[in-house]
Amino acid sequence: MLFFVDTANLDHIREAAELGILDGVTTNPSLMAKEGITGEKEVLKHYRQICEIVGKDRDVSAEVISIDFKGMVAEGKILAELHENIVVKVPMTREGVKAIAHFTEEGIKTNCTLVFSAGQAILAAKAGASYVSPFIGRIDDTGWDGMKLIKDIFEIYGTAGFETAILAASIRNPLHIIQAAKAGADVVTCPLSAILGLFNHPLTDIGLEKFLADYNKANG
Ligand code: G3P
Repeated sequence: MLFFVDTANLDHIREAAELGILDGVTTNPSLMAKEGITGEKEVLKHYRQICEIVGKDRDVSAEVISIDFKGMVAEGKILAELHENIVVKVPMTREGVKAIAHFTEEGIKTNCTLVFSAGQAILAAKAGASYVSPFIGRIDDTGWDGMKLIKDIFEIYGTAGFETAILAASIRNPLHIIQAAKAGADVVTCPLSAILGLFNHPLTDIGLEKFLADYNKANG
């Protein structure tokens, strides 16, 4: 299972990369706005910086803003040409599916975002999306079971032979990561805080303290 960090914050991306367990990055317009990145030039520069931080052969999802086919294709082309790591992120709409099918024909990798149902995941796979992004946390927010969607997509893709990778998105905490791994997600994309949360266990801290105390006692 791959670990992506879901942020446009360069410090967080650097910190995750330094852990040695980072496989890629996902961004979206909200995350870019949160970092104050505005204007086409700045946005493209920022994506390039992200690609350089994560290094070779690590996918970086960059989302289109257009909502019509023509606009998505034009934007996606510019993004894809920016850096070999770029995966064009496209929303799950009729126009989006058309654009994904077009990018598939062109050999451009895509991430179909804003997926909330198994039916949408089937459409994304049919169009040849490289990744499908079901939004776990946002489904949980409505009182439905986000993880059930990952399980359903895993079962459907396995049965139907779809090759689209399941990218569990809108991950909010370490438990989501563990559950997504159990449910068959190929990728989890999460804030750095959720990844760091996986480290925590009080028995690890207590055990390390005891090992060091015993070592110090024995060695003076
Ligand atoms: O990967 C999608 C993600 O950025 C959405 O997360 O927490 O805004 O639902 P959230």
